[in-house]
Amino acid sequence: MSKTAGARLMIFEHITTGGCQSYLVGCPDTLCGALIDPEISQIDRYRALATRDGLHIRYVSDTHTHADHFSAAKQLSEILQAPTVMHQASAAPHAGLRLDDDDMLRVGNLRIRAVHTPGHTRDSMCLVVGDRVFTGDTLLIGGTGRTDLPTGDPDQLFDSLFGKLLTLDPGLLVFPAHEYKGRSHSTIGAEIADNPRLQKRERADFTVMMRELNLAAPTHLTEALRTNMTGGKTVDQMLAEAAAEVPFIALSELDLRLRGRPNDLLVLDVREEGAYRAGHIPGARHLPRGQLELRINDEVSDPTLRIVTYCEFGKISTLAAATLRQLGFMRAGALDGGMKAWREDGRPIEV
Ligand SMILES: [Fe+2]
Repeated sequence: MSKTAGARLMIFEHITTGGCQSYLVGCPDTLCGALIDPEISQIDRYRALATRDGLHIRYVSDTHTHADHFSAAKQLSEILQAPTVMHQASAAPHAGLRLDDDDMLRVGNLRIRAVHTPGHTRDSMCLVVGDRVFTGDTLLIGGTGRTDLPTGDPDQLFDSLFGKLLTLDPGLLVFPAHEYKGRSHSTIGAEIADNPRLQKRERADFTVMMRELNLAAPTHLTEALRTNMTGGKTVDQMLAEAAAEVPFIALSELDLRLRGRPNDLLVLDVREEGAYRAGHIPGARHLPRGQLELRINDEVSDPTLRIVTYCEFGKISTLAAATLRQLGFMRAGALDGGMKAWREDGRPIEV
């Protein structure tokens, strides 16, 4: 993360998450701001940075439908009451403000201009703001976005680069959506001169090169496309939301309590039957997650009972505890860790 405050003309934050780059830009006169390509794990950070800079975030923008990381646009739009801004061609139903080529957003005294640059995806756009351009995955430092994922097209990328993006001011600073080597930014001129892919300036050479890249599929491809295209939730998000609703109990604490043979604590093993039979926490009752709602009325009659759920890794048990609390078992919680950790700790096991 860096703050370069673009020579007093722009408040600027650069947030790096692994290889993903997101940006917060703001007008220093009006304190109006916009987020570009936010990533799901950094929601608190973006909000904290905006607060620290005194910025009110008015727009949340994705330069394209990301296939390799999880966009925070929908969640931030809801939290901040600010529209998700995407290109007109985006499939995302949560895109509340869709831009056409050359449309501008007014962010206080800043202007954010969309340049439609299909190729990496059909809905790719670059955003020009003052002395810089946020290139999404259209142009990376020393590279370009791939064109072999859904809606990608090497011919379109050729046109977008050589017919549009690279015709902009060579001095424009380039800030891409991905950078894996720790470089902060580049310029249009430097990329034209040095970017290996941009040396293929004939259409046929360029498209053959792109078609022959033979890249491995990005991790989380299907989940990223599913959630970014539809606004649905990632599995991690569902787990995080459930975890925010339930209390946890430590392995050591549960072990200690069970040694006192409590009659006011129900330990619920929510794994499948085979796993339960192979060894469980002493005294635990078996009620698999898949049958929880169907059988809970027969299994537990006292809604005030303290219940601790556990599973193999501590994830499904969190969902189970959240479900129990929704059902009215207000003292349901989950083990912080799972049977695997319990086993590895050498704690007692009943067969
Ligand atoms: Fe991308």
